[in-house]
Amino acid sequence: MSVFDFSDKVALVTGGASGIGRACIEAFAAGGAKVVVADLNEAQGEALVAQLQADGVQAKFVAADVAAHEDVAAMVQSTLSQFGALHFAVNNAGVEGVRSAIAETDLDDWHRVININLNGVFYCMREEVPAILQSGGGAIVNMSSIMGSVSTPGISPYVAAKHAVLGLTKTAAQEYSAQGVRVNAVCPGFIETPLVLKHLTEEMRAQALAMHPIGHLGKAEEVADTVTFLCSQQASFVTGSAYSVDGGYLTI
Ligand code: NAI
Repeated sequence: MSVFDFSDKVALVTGGASGIGRACIEAFAAGGAKVVVADLNEAQGEALVAQLQADGVQAKFVAADVAAHEDVAAMVQSTLSQFGALHFAVNNAGVEGVRSAIAETDLDDWHRVININLNGVFYCMREEVPAILQSGGGAIVNMSSIMGSVSTPGISPYVAAKHAVLGLTKTAAQEYSAQGVRVNAVCPGFIETPLVLKHLTEEMRAQALAMHPIGHLGKAEEVADTVTFLCSQQASFVTGSAYSVDGGYLTI
């Protein structure tokens, strides 16, 4: 059960097969929504959908690369064909890229991270906004990061993309809120997901902990709770905002 009621609503989450995206899918489903898991990882996405369906949730998997505009257009069309509407979209798919200082950054890696983490969010909103409008309104949440406000060495395309996602979010909020599409961003601190855990040595974990005044790293479910709040009726006057879910990281 969820504190939010998403009965008769349709929610789409990119990068929905793992980590934060998966937790968002589960949180929407707990509120009664029909859910669309969009991801590059077909095996993990199909497995999640099979598990949700076994629990009685109306769920669909769509294989999509958010960096390919044609995949994104097909993803939204497929959502409309399956469930007849789209109310909530979480543009969450993202990658970190190869760690290197700017002068050593491989151009292909720069373009890959920008294409997924920034262009992907733009492609998604470009297709989702008309679908949400034709469904009677709803909300979009874009996944930024603490790296949307501050920086750290070695991940320049990631930092640039996450800053830009906040700009895109504000622009979309100005353009579409009056028509019934609220657009917000969420900025997580270190969250224990495969993206982070695969790089995290014990030394890095200790350093990361010191940057989170709350004294622990975050859980995907804690980000999903904010995402579903932002999509809920309880957030009816919230648009164009960037919500930190970071255990106090940005206070340091
Ligand atoms: P994750 O690696 O657990 O999940 C990411 C999902 O996105 C995977 O299922 C992957 O297959 C999918 N994906 C990757 N590239 C894709 C593409 N081109 N098209 C479609 N799907 C694609 O990562 P996590 O941690 O759940 O991250 C989700 C989002 O949250 C990302 O945008 C990340 O930058 C952001 N974030 C994560 C933080 C963390 O500490 N885990 C902190 C701040 C932001």
